[in-house]
Amino acid sequence: MSMGIRRSGLQGELSWRGLEPSNLLEVCSCGHIDDHDPLLLESRHSYLESQMEAGLEVVVAHLGDKPVGFAQTVPIETAARDIHGDSAVFLHCLLVFEQGQGVGQALIGEVLRRAKRQGRGVVVDACSDVWGFMPDEFFSRLGFKTAQARGRRRLMYTGLPVTACLPQYLEPRYAPQTIQKAEVVVDVFFTPLCMGLQSEEAATMRRAAEPYGGRVLVREWNAGDPEVRRSFGIARAIFLNGVMRPNGDVIGLEEAGALIADALGRPVPDNAVWDDSISRLF
Ligand SMILES: CC(C)(COP(=O)(O)OP(=O)(O)OC[C@H]1O[C@@H](n2cnc3c(N)ncnc32)[C@H](O)[C@@H]1OP(=O)(O)O)[C@@H](O)C(=O)NCCC(=O)NCCS
Repeated sequence: MSMGIRRSGLQGELSWRGLEPSNLLEVCSCGHIDDHDPLLLESRHSYLESQMEAGLEVVVAHLGDKPVGFAQTVPIETAARDIHGDSAVFLHCLLVFEQGQGVGQALIGEVLRRAKRQGRGVVVDACSDVWGFMPDEFFSRLGFKTAQARGRRRLMYTGLPVTACLPQYLEPRYAPQTIQKAEVVVDVFFTPLCMGLQSEEAATMRRAAEPYGGRVLVREWNAGDPEVRRSFGIARAIFLNGVMRPNGDVIGLEEAGALIADALGRPVPDNAVWDDSISRLF
């Protein structure tokens, strides 16, 4: 479809701003304005600020002084995600607070315009039927094509220069490791694009591991590190003695404790046991 401005909705009234005090809470709380975690907000904020020189861009749609949605992009080559590509910005996050009024479409139009000025297209890791999370149908509606599907994930693109390679998911690689003295090795992979540099999930696993002392070792792997992406091709996952946690929600203390107790009671498999449901969304 055409990316032209619709005549209905809020599009004609929107203005574009970057991350600034008037929208910091909305952007860094991912829309959880009333029930945000202040530590997570600060963690996200400092990460976003730290990455701007490296090309991270926050585009906020305002209606007057009120933020009504935002998009975040990074150059695809350095995106802290399990993807590979070139000549594109990676649209890591798109969130509209006032939905159904053309704001999402206008944000995509603005992101595409900015990408084009750099000679780039736009790539997004969309989802098929995951509670409306980055919905692929919305992106298809706006002209995005699917380069690759993996489970319920859809790697989609638009506006790529003709010389660009199509984006691809990295091939995930992981093998169970035994570490002397530790009976359970917990490996937490995370992307700072969502959480900032402090992994909430690694912190939860550490709290759950405390009663076991040295018997449980928790390690964290930041997908912002190119070496982690190269070695593992994983941006988000939790493995306990080689078995991947089969759940995509942010892990809570109770589940973390149960997973550790379970891992203590079973042998370490020779090869990693993967979960192919939705837990590897990103
Ligand atoms: C998907 C989303 C961005 C759409 O924004 P929006 O402002 O409501 O969408 P628009 O009003 O601009 O809609 C543009 C077009 O897409 C269509 N559309 C909107 N949401 C859609 C959806 N979920 N599925 C299919 N089509 C959709 C609209 O019907 C419209 O089509 P039309 O021009 O034929 O009327 C918004 O619903 C949202 O923020 N969802 C959550 C995304 C998310 O998970 N973010 C977290 C990332 S960390």
